[in-house]
Amino acid sequence: MRVLSVASEAAGLVKTGGLADVAAALPAALAAQGVEVTTFVPGYPAVLARLGKKAKAVHSWDALLGAPARLLAGKLGAHPLLVLDAPALFNREGGPYGDASGRDWDDNWRRFAALARAAADIAGGAAKGLAFDLVHAHDWQAGLLPAYLRLAPLAGGCIVPSVMTIHNMAFQGYFPAEVFPELGLPPSAWSVDGVESYGGVGFLKAGMQLADAITTVSPTYAGEIRSVEFGMGLEGLVLARSNRVHGILNGIDTMEWNPASDPHLAANFSVGKLAARVRNKRAVEAALGLTRDDGPLFVVISRLTWQKGMDVLSGVLDHLVGIGARLALLGTGDAEIEAAFGAAATRHPGRIGVRIGYHEPLAHLMQGGGDAILLPSRFEPCGLTQLYGLAYGCVPVVSRTGGLADTVIDANPAALAAGVATGVQMNAVSHNALALAVSRTVQLYGDKPQWKRLQKNAMKADFSWGASGAAYAALYRQLIEEQG
Ligand code: ADP
Ligand code: GLC
Repeated sequence: MRVLSVASEAAGLVKTGGLADVAAALPAALAAQGVEVTTFVPGYPAVLARLGKKAKAVHSWDALLGAPARLLAGKLGAHPLLVLDAPALFNREGGPYGDASGRDWDDNWRRFAALARAAADIAGGAAKGLAFDLVHAHDWQAGLLPAYLRLAPLAGGCIVPSVMTIHNMAFQGYFPAEVFPELGLPPSAWSVDGVESYGGVGFLKAGMQLADAITTVSPTYAGEIRSVEFGMGLEGLVLARSNRVHGILNGIDTMEWNPASDPHLAANFSVGKLAARVRNKRAVEAALGLTRDDGPLFVVISRLTWQKGMDVLSGVLDHLVGIGARLALLGTGDAEIEAAFGAAATRHPGRIGVRIGYHEPLAHLMQGGGDAILLPSRFEPCGLTQLYGLAYGCVPVVSRTGGLADTVIDANPAALAAGVATGVQMNAVSHNALALAVSRTVQLYGDKPQWKRLQKNAMKADFSWGASGAAYAALYRQLIEEQG
């Protein structure tokens, strides 16, 4: 089975969040199931640089959404990679979605419509020698792909089924109606059964409407998006297609995230050699300017946004320091939240260390050296940093939502007695709930044998891709059979 997986980021090439980790991990996860995944990403400068001279042009377009483009073939690790080289759309300084100041590009609708149009052509058989049985579209950036396949397929091309995965309902790729005539879709696509959404064009909505199956990245989030609070305007569509909605938990790439072999750690360790962790703790303290101390060290590795509850956390820091804990934070995001953490670090020198920025090696080191990782998210489709925390014995302290609810077992008395607890959960994010969760964690940390048991349970939990890879493969097979 050959699957074309279309995403706007993939770890190793370009990454702003968990989507990149998942897109990059899927090929290996599915190879184990007998599925060959080809990843298709835009040709941002960093991607083209990675591709290097080995890249081969395998197809070209004179005008893809108006822009000349080439299809380049290369490798993502051991797996096939396709890159859309359209300089007018993707060759610019800044991030994948906006300029260096974080402002979205005005032509994002055109950039990602081009990605989807190209993918639909490839799936139809436009590029000689490339054939696929199914396409897998990730997030709004690939959302128009199911629409093109259904409503404007390549003339004479093959028809393949599609899967639309929602990694985050908060980002819907919503654009004004004026862009519709430019998309190359038939006028009939301008309908509630097509790409129209609340009077504009909804890229994610289009994918959810027209894909053969919708998946999201945890069972709990798959249920949550049926409600107004989490569905963010698309809950009606989720309900209408509920027999087509599946929650499949993300796994982690156990090659990239393995404490026994992680090259970014000061000391490697495993469940039987937890004592070596302390060297990583010392390294985190040094990196973040924290006092050296054996008390509890919380870490945060996150986008600093409302979704992640970071505004609430910034208000709980005096409490956290007051009960003898420290915090090491790595992240970027909203200017106001960044400033609040900066101010807390100034108020509590040596107790709160803040690094504003994106730093992959430091993210690994902090998982290896922190005692507990905080995720007070208001919503969390899956969340990967709690899974990395589990694998690294950095006990997750999470809100009970989405994938966080599905992956962490709260250290309540029953779970502790049964010896199955792996972390700490809190109810809906509020100042009090978070302060209480921090206090409970510090208390648990104070009981050394109990804390060690918690860490060991966490590290033994299996969040590799095995089960989820099998679930995707089964879904692909079912859709191909239905179509057949
Ligand atoms: P989301 O995709 O919503 O941001 P996830 O938990 O799914 O959340 O994935 C976040 C990914 O980004 C993880 O791999 C995490 O380690 C990484 N990450 C987040 N912020 C930073 C940062 N400032 N530096 C390095 N890695 C980061
Ligand atoms: C999104 C979500 C996050 C999820 C990631 C990968 O960015 O916010 O919860 O883990 O996608 O699926």
